[in-house]
Amino acid sequence: MFIPIPERIHHVLGLALFIACTPAWPALAQSSDSVTRGEYLVRAGECFSCHTVPGSTPLAGGRALATPFGTFYSPNITPDRETGIGNWRDADFVRALRKGVRPDGSNYFPVFPYPSFTGISNEDALAIKAYLFSLAPVHQQNRPHEVSFPFSLRFLQTGWKMLFFTKGPFRPDPHTDAAANRGAYLATALGHCGECHTPRNVLGATRKSRRLAGTLDGPDDDPVPNITPDAATGIGNWSIDDIAETLKSGATPLDSKVKGAMQEVVADGTSHLTDADREAIARYLKAQVPIANSVTDEPEDLPWYKRLWAWLVNVVSFT
Ligand code: HEC
Ligand code: HEC
Repeated sequence: MFIPIPERIHHVLGLALFIACTPAWPALAQSSDSVTRGEYLVRAGECFSCHTVPGSTPLAGGRALATPFGTFYSPNITPDRETGIGNWRDADFVRALRKGVRPDGSNYFPVFPYPSFTGISNEDALAIKAYLFSLAPVHQQNRPHEVSFPFSLRFLQTGWKMLFFTKGPFRPDPHTDAAANRGAYLATALGHCGECHTPRNVLGATRKSRRLAGTLDGPDDDPVPNITPDAATGIGNWSIDDIAETLKSGATPLDSKVKGAMQEVVADGTSHLTDADREAIARYLKAQVPIANSVTDEPEDLPWYKRLWAWLVNVVSFT
């Protein structure tokens, strides 16, 4: 049914609309700012490497991520309305990143590093969204995960979250300075260094008592080094400049270059950061408690009882 609107009301409506829209102008000017900021944060958060098939359109998803539970395929996070996240509201985006919850209310799998991203501030999450929505939409269907039962059940993630998920945001430590807090924020929330550098228990949760101590079973089954300041097994002998240089160029003080997953972290992420931010991350690493853990021992070299013991500790460890 068509309801005719009297002309006067029409004008009033028009005026109201005009007033409602006017404050949007300064917001628009601000939004180009948040796009630039968002791009920087996307670099710091390493969104490119997981959400891009190497050599294909950035952020359109489809990259295979192998885990002990099966292979996950990252989704399309370009603003395509049908196959990407073009219909998402701000609240959907913030909730996905910070709580690991999908717009339909079900849970994400923690292969999407929301357990780290929960530390991201709402403001930064929205800047990230502003940047993603400034990109050209790419029409590319998501590929279903190939994960074995029962790990494929999303509702089981509710239990996982109760056991292992601590909601953010990152809380700055009032006893330290702004640079140290910035380093902690970049390393733990956005940069999610611990998602690769911290060993996981049998349910795939990172072990808080072994933060950054390295693991033999990293992404693609590669070993990931210990980056705590332990002198013998970690990076205790590296200077802050050494670490900052690795994050900038990939070069290590051992006259080599980082390979594999870390090469991508540097190329897509940390090489785009400011010197000050790289130094803040390096300072953060140097300020951690050293943990002795060698990841260069080949597991085959260990006697069977040591391997069994390591496996058992991992199975039962919820810390
Ligand atoms: C370690 C790999 C990895 C990184 C890094 C990563 N993601 Fe993801 N992301 C995933 C996977 C895998 C999923 C799908 C999880 C699922 O299906 O439960 C996902 C899901 C998402 C979703 C939900 C999309 C949808 O259609 O439901 C958004 C949004 C997202 N990621 C944004 C980001 C942003 C922004 C960043 C960087 C700050 C980022 N991701 C970094 C792997 C990653
Ligand atoms: C996607 C997984 C992944 C993420 C995320 C990641 N790293 Fe790495 N990192 C690795 C791997 C794998 C290596 C070993 C590279 C090699 O074999 O050359 C490595 C190596 C390093 C090294 C060199 C250590 C050594 O002993 O040679 C440093 C330093 C480092 N990472 C710091 C970081 C920091 C800081 C972050 C967070 C900003 C981070 N990494 C995030 C996987 C990752």
